Amino acid sequence: MVSRVIPVDPFDLVIFGGTGDLARRKILPGLYRRYWAGQLPDDSRIVGASRREMTDDEFRQFVREAIEEFAIEGKDDAPKIDGFLKLLSYNAVDATGDQGWKELADKMREDVVRAYYFSVGPSLFGHLAEHLHKYKIAGNHARIVVEKPFGHDLKSAKDLNATLRKYFAEEQIYRIDHYLGKETVQNLMAVRFGNVLFEPLWNALYVDHIQITVAETVGVGGRGTYYDKSGAMRDMVQNHMMQLLCLIAMEPPHHFEPDAVRDEKLKVIRALDPVGPQDIVRGQYSGAEGIDSYFTDVEDERSTTESFIAMKLHISNWRWKGTPIYVRTGKRLKTRASEIAVVFKHPPHSIFGENPNDRRGNVLVIRLQPNEGMNLRVTIKEPGPGGMRLIEVPLDMSFAEALGPEAADIPDAYERLIMDVIRGNQTLFMRGDEAEAAWAWADPIIESWEKAGDRPKLYDPGSAGPEEALMLLYREGRRWRDIRE
Ligand code: BG6
Repeated sequence: MVSRVIPVDPFDLVIFGGTGDLARRKILPGLYRRYWAGQLPDDSRIVGASRREMTDDEFRQFVREAIEEFAIEGKDDAPKIDGFLKLLSYNAVDATGDQGWKELADKMREDVVRAYYFSVGPSLFGHLAEHLHKYKIAGNHARIVVEKPFGHDLKSAKDLNATLRKYFAEEQIYRIDHYLGKETVQNLMAVRFGNVLFEPLWNALYVDHIQITVAETVGVGGRGTYYDKSGAMRDMVQNHMMQLLCLIAMEPPHHFEPDAVRDEKLKVIRALDPVGPQDIVRGQYSGAEGIDSYFTDVEDERSTTESFIAMKLHISNWRWKGTPIYVRTGKRLKTRASEIAVVFKHPPHSIFGENPNDRRGNVLVIRLQPNEGMNLRVTIKEPGPGGMRLIEVPLDMSFAEALGPEAADIPDAYERLIMDVIRGNQTLFMRGDEAEAAWAWADPIIESWEKAGDRPKLYDPGSAGPEEALMLLYREGRRWRDIRE
């Protein structure tokens, strides 16, 4: 495979929250990796900004350590690291006051792309936008990047959109959902719309059901305060899972361009039926020897926040009416694996006799992580004598094996998305109306739990979630895929 790294235009990128955890783990190491790959011009500048006082050299040292911890994997050549550090500087600013803004404004250049990454809590978004405007460093071509959570409910999302739009046009606002930057998530679109094979079957006539799973082994330790106010519904379903659902279910956009793609995603969200309590299972992990329970992690033994959720969804449109879509996500599960499985219907009639085992359905599995790839289960004859015995075999493709070592070195979601910001391509970013529509769907569900005082079911750490989640499918003669399959 030939790597085609196309350098971006020179830019000034300011990272507010430049010394925070996301900057340290993802944004700065990601930028370094793009520099290493030759994608960042040497006259680009990256400015770290946060409240604390720091010299340029101290910031560079902070970034050096972040690179060493998170970005190395064979990319530790000292000259490259030194070259990257030369692009960096630091500027202390007070997001809510005027301190530091004049200095920052003086640093910004007129003739290059300007991007401002808001890697801070949403309560500061409005202040930052206002100051960028006040100090005249926003400009028509500037871009702002905002992190999730984009609001806490419909009202707060609307308020946030209104605040940002006071100073920036929608074309300047890049709402990050890092799942959209994952290689295989984009591959979903390539598979669906770059082949004729799947699309004719991609509907309620041929698809029995779809399963979307994002399973994690980690708990919420360390992020307890944030997580306990969100839960799996706000942290994962309203955004990441919703985006996956949109890409799997949307109509073909007329073009792979921002508004065409986002219009189609929006239609899916708007076509989602309300979900009743019978179709939702919420769970919370308990503790085990040497493993803290959810209560311990969030330091509140009365918490009713869910760390696991499984639900059955329906999309009311011509393509999908009647095909359930099951989604599940949770923390402290037995394995870290994310996948989408499209389970096709059985052949309508078996010509091989009435053995029920002979009536199998094809399953297309798109593995998002780890070991990105695709797997299509097909039925064949078991080789050898003994009559017409049918077995299922996987047509399995691991991208790393099929495409060579460079496929194993694919850019991390953040790297790709930041480069898209610089290039001015919004296709993989959420539009304001999408975020609002997703909240409009999620809000009544969350409110109904609050009203009913719903308590999540406990599940063992290292399990597949609460038993009740299995029942969600069993009761309809289906079963979840074993995520280790
Ligand atoms: C984040 C959530 O957005 O996504 C986390 O806040 C979650 O709770 C994470 O762990 C999962 O991302 P990834 O890329 O590790 O699947």
